[in-house]
Amino acid sequence: MISKTMQDALNAQINLEQYSAQLYLAMGAHCAGKSFKGFAHWLAVQASEETAHAAKLITFLLDRGGKLELQAIAAPPKDFGGVIQVFEQTLGHEKTITASINALFELARAEKDHASEIALQWYVTEQVEEEAGVGEIVDHLHAVGDQGGAIWYLDSKMGKRGKR
Ligand code: FEO
Repeated sequence: MISKTMQDALNAQINLEQYSAQLYLAMGAHCAGKSFKGFAHWLAVQASEETAHAAKLITFLLDRGGKLELQAIAAPPKDFGGVIQVFEQTLGHEKTITASINALFELARAEKDHASEIALQWYVTEQVEEEAGVGEIVDHLHAVGDQGGAIWYLDSKMGKRGKR
């Protein structure tokens, strides 16, 4: 049986993953509104990954006999600026998620909750990939700038993202 402390922390992380999906859906729609269909596609795929991250935590919580306590999902911002700003904000958000996962991992350790620690290892590794992937996009965007033809080439490349 999972402790109440760990249960509350997992419920909070589930809400954060759901907010991430909400945020990326909004960012994707923002990019689609500027005709950047590839960036919009990438963000839509990212949103569904975040929903999957929440679902995986929900399954774990329930498997441990915990209680799922879903909270209201915060509204994302209404505007995100240009594409470079969108991905800078994505990177910033992923860093926030990484800090939250690391804190959760530390809590599992402090609680001697080995099952949670092992389950959270997947998220620790996932965050390394998430930050590296988004960091690369930010670097590419800074290299080409958000004016001129190169950004449309990047847009078409982003449109090829498949589901992991
Ligand atoms: Fe579920 Fe992008 O962190």
